[in-house]
Amino acid sequence: MKILAIETSCDETAAAVVEDGRTIRSSVVSSQVDLHGRFGGVVPEVASRAHLDLIGPVVDEALAQAEVTGAHLDAVAATIGPGLMGALLVGVSAAKGYALGWGVPFIGVNHMEAHLHAALLEEPDLVLPVVVLLVSGGHTMLVSMERAPAPATFPFVYRLLGQTIDDAAGEAFDKVARFLGLGYPGGPAIDREAGAGDPRAIAFPRGLHDGSFDFSFSGLKTSVITYVRKHPEVAVADVAASFQEAVVDVLVAKARHAARAVGAGALCIGGGVAANSVLRQRIAEACAEDGIAAFIPSRAMCTDNAAMIGATAWFRLRADGPTPFDVGAQPNLRLPFV
Ligand code: KG4
Ligand code: ZN
Repeated sequence: MKILAIETSCDETAAAVVEDGRTIRSSVVSSQVDLHGRFGGVVPEVASRAHLDLIGPVVDEALAQAEVTGAHLDAVAATIGPGLMGALLVGVSAAKGYALGWGVPFIGVNHMEAHLHAALLEEPDLVLPVVVLLVSGGHTMLVSMERAPAPATFPFVYRLLGQTIDDAAGEAFDKVARFLGLGYPGGPAIDREAGAGDPRAIAFPRGLHDGSFDFSFSGLKTSVITYVRKHPEVAVADVAASFQEAVVDVLVAKARHAARAVGAGALCIGGGVAANSVLRQRIAEACAEDGIAAFIPSRAMCTDNAAMIGATAWFRLRADGPTPFDVGAQPNLRLPFV
């Protein structure tokens, strides 16, 4: 079964063709970073207009790379939420149009569920339960992904172990980078800058050291701002490295603690911040020490893409059937936790 999948929840216009929820026949991502960079963040209206311009060519490219036409496709999927309303609407409307035109089902996909599935797409034999640290621009959560008890038709259940009580990890990276004048998007900029700095130069606070699986990053962000204002001569690379160290320390400590608590055989990371080089290295080291498997998807699979939407859509279509055409974009859609 071949599914054309579309992702337009934020600032990447993406389309992919995925076969049987496993095999990526094509995955095209067109980033709008250059458009938003001069504003220092994603401008929703600019994103919607860019999606409108890009959606047709990006879908055509995904079909061409997969060497298929509409006649070969069995369904069309799109992210229905969470995300920016105007941005989501472009992908959802396009997907419904293609589905109606080709006479195949439409499947609405939860973007966060797709980030969870990104891991499985590259590691189909992952043993459950697995604890997933989901760290993106809008979310930071620890989720236990477990096998659904029979006779459920959908094979997985998700249990929320903890989440951020204020800023998401990616949001903290973006805000601190902006304050340090490192540009947008902030995560990759801090990752690069930190390479030249000393992670032990400044002892920034580690938020919520309370034994819970919840996170807090807004105090850390304020500490960085206060420190730099008091010490204007400080090297930016040292601030970037010390900030990144504080974020990664907390993420790894809590993820590891969660994996132990759940008895998970593996720890997995997903979402844009999972592209961070230090986080990837530390998770791998922690898992080796704890004797559990580390699953660290490729960077392209961590950041927003449509292949993960196509994989999730396949599972959802088999379990729930097609999504009715009157289901629209849902900017505040949540994960279906047990
Ligand atoms: O998952 P994603 O592509 O989009 C959302 O669904 O939010 O995540 C984007 C976030 C941004 O905040 C970006 O700064 C962050 O991921 N990010 C990184 C890195 N690459 C992207 N954060 C830290 N280090 C990176 N290398
Ligand atoms: Zn995302």
